[in-house]
Amino acid sequence: MSDTDQSDDFRGAGLRFPTGFVFGSATASYQIEGAVAEDGRKPSIWDTFSHTPGKIANGDTGDIAVDFYHRVDEDLDLIKSLGVSAYRLSIAWPRIIPEGTGAVNEAGLAFYERVIDGLIDRGIDPVVTLYHWDLPQPLQDRGGWTNRETSYAFAEYARVVGRRLGDRVSVWTTLNEPWCAAYLGYAGGEHAPGHRNELEALQAVHHLNLAHGLALIELRKVVTHPGARFSVTNNLASVYAADPGNADDVDAKRQIEALRNRAFTEPQLRGRYPEDLLEDTKHITDWSFIRDGDLELIHQPIDIVGINYYNTDTVRRGAEHSTEGTPFPGATRVEWAEQPGPITAMGWNIAPKGLYDLLVATHEQYPEYEIVITENGAAYDDQIIETDAGKGVRDPERIDYLRRHLTAAHRAIEAGVPLTGYFVWSLMDNFEWAFGYSKRFGVVYVDYETQERTPKDSAHWYAKLAATGVLPE
Ligand code: NOJ
Repeated sequence: MSDTDQSDDFRGAGLRFPTGFVFGSATASYQIEGAVAEDGRKPSIWDTFSHTPGKIANGDTGDIAVDFYHRVDEDLDLIKSLGVSAYRLSIAWPRIIPEGTGAVNEAGLAFYERVIDGLIDRGIDPVVTLYHWDLPQPLQDRGGWTNRETSYAFAEYARVVGRRLGDRVSVWTTLNEPWCAAYLGYAGGEHAPGHRNELEALQAVHHLNLAHGLALIELRKVVTHPGARFSVTNNLASVYAADPGNADDVDAKRQIEALRNRAFTEPQLRGRYPEDLLEDTKHITDWSFIRDGDLELIHQPIDIVGINYYNTDTVRRGAEHSTEGTPFPGATRVEWAEQPGPITAMGWNIAPKGLYDLLVATHEQYPEYEIVITENGAAYDDQIIETDAGKGVRDPERIDYLRRHLTAAHRAIEAGVPLTGYFVWSLMDNFEWAFGYSKRFGVVYVDYETQERTPKDSAHWYAKLAATGVLPE
């Protein structure tokens, strides 16, 4: 079997997950909340970016999103109806400290307190992410993640949130997908703040890592929940060499793995940057923005490694300028190979084996950590239909995607990976960043005109899984 063989069909109906395995659903603040100018919230970089013509499909913005801010009770009931035991949400920094530093906005804290208490009242564990990309705009005006002051501002924000909610939230996640925040935001330009500058992207990598460590130090001081656990979520990639026998292809894989995975996991989990990453990028920077002591600050103890997984990358040696315009600073002569189908509406290949490989590899590299799949899911062009039982959405492809990936997760557990939870992305359709509302990831359909929520077939399927712990047909 070659390195790229992802043909295994992963049809695991009937598989039983271990008792206590957490089935959850996930969302993020800017993608669902709306109410961007209410109760003291000030703009984040995503408000600025989405209001910049040409950046988001159809000119969409998160101004209203799916109006979660005004529909908290209804949506918490919806989460409850899925039977999940945990819900992963993110907190909007610009609601808590609207200027990025300084004055704390009580209304923002009160809002999340209400959400979290509402979850707990319904028997659902809140899993809180502090940074899911909505950086307060005033911090971007001072350089955003290229400026190390942003890392300290983040620690201050973490302390404020931890002090207020630390008695009731047991799982704390510092960052979501710093890869996207750094490279898509500062090198590729497709995410806020929309820059295209390789040096800035690498500075952002370091300052996001630093922010993670500094925030953990503060959280540990103020969080009082007796079972509190701390984590970070990276979108680690499963990268394959197009021809594993070709040294150039293998080197292309090494470069992308260094940028995608090890640039984050090595400092966060091992307190060092990979030598090959520093070498590959030395024509961009000498990394002198890493100050003495930074790696110790970044390398704080955590309990859970969160992984978001969607698809795989297969790479090979490319032509001389093949990486220009890609969000991979320092990569040279790398080309992305066409992936075998099928694909989702995002154009992403469906590769459950990639998830299995990634879980096993992550466990091999970092065996002391519990692992949670903090996101996995698929976008499809869902259509609402009228049935005898009312409105519904038939989404067999999404069910199939979820079943295959959960089968891969189950296999990883059997192979000894300490995987303890799975969060479907997403609870409901929402603002899919540069794609606006054109891509639907929810297991619940949202009519953006009326804000009506309709569980798709996948929501019923997932509810059955959450209730029984057994993968349904
Ligand atoms: C990962 C991100 O964390 C989430 O915000 C996004 O919607 C999904 N991937 C799908 O692209």
